Amino acid sequence: MYDNVDYVAALDAADELPSPFDDGTADDEGTTYGEFPFSFLAALLEELNPPADAYFMDLGSGRGQIALAASQLRPWGGCGGVELLPELHCIAVEAQRVVSSQMVDQNFKTTQPNSQSRVGDSSDASKHPSPTSNCDFSFKVGDMYSTSSIEALTDKDCPLVVFAYATCLEVNTKGELQKLTDALAYVPTGTTVITVNRPLASHPSGCSSGADSPSFVLVRAVKGPNPEINGHEQHSTAFVWRKEV
Ligand SMILES: C[S@@+](CC[C@H](N)C(=O)[O-])C[C@H]1O[C@@H](n2cnc3c(N)ncnc32)[C@H](O)[C@@H]1O
Repeated sequence: MYDNVDYVAALDAADELPSPFDDGTADDEGTTYGEFPFSFLAALLEELNPPADAYFMDLGSGRGQIALAASQLRPWGGCGGVELLPELHCIAVEAQRVVSSQMVDQNFKTTQPNSQSRVGDSSDASKHPSPTSNCDFSFKVGDMYSTSSIEALTDKDCPLVVFAYATCLEVNTKGELQKLTDALAYVPTGTTVITVNRPLASHPSGCSSGADSPSFVLVRAVKGPNPEINGHEQHSTAFVWRKEV
């Protein structure tokens, strides 16, 4: 999918955007790059089976491969991402353009009279949910912890699946994603959050553990292969959370 991306255009576009390092929004910590394996994502989504109108949001979306892969795997109300670094964000926007034009091409071919598919076809493809050709994409450049990024999520009037490949994100002394938990405190009840390799914190900071403090409940922890992880085990753990009141 990235072979046809115009990297020169992407980097030119990134030059027009302010760098988060200029105003102190970012330091190098947290921006270590890595990409979550496609096969593990596919297995996770198959297991979770989110509804077809759900919105998939990758926090720290890099060059967009996870949101774009998700859009190819199943139907969604929309897919998007928030990325701090303008260069990576602009590559994601270019890649999305490539994917969208390929889908238009493919749609055109499958609606031609000589297409092989038939109504009532019981092939494998009809048993699995197929991706929507008109998936609504939205890649934003910005800080995942900022109010505007999270407001963009709380505005959605549909089920939400939030993903974060969180190995290098900021953690508290217990190794929990406290800053991310705080930022997500007011996403709608029922939101699914997947954090890879790091758990969310049990409560937003400042909230004592009580019935009325918004929190996330761990639904499951899924172990899967990840060639990016050093060591002989080479696996990652995806923590799946559900937002409670
Ligand atoms: C491990 S990479 C994951 C990339 C992508 N999600 C994937 O799995 O292919 C983490 C990404 O998070 C971005 N990032 C780190 N801190 C961020 C922040 N505060 N807001 C938005 N993005 C951030 C980094 O620049 C990097 O691209």
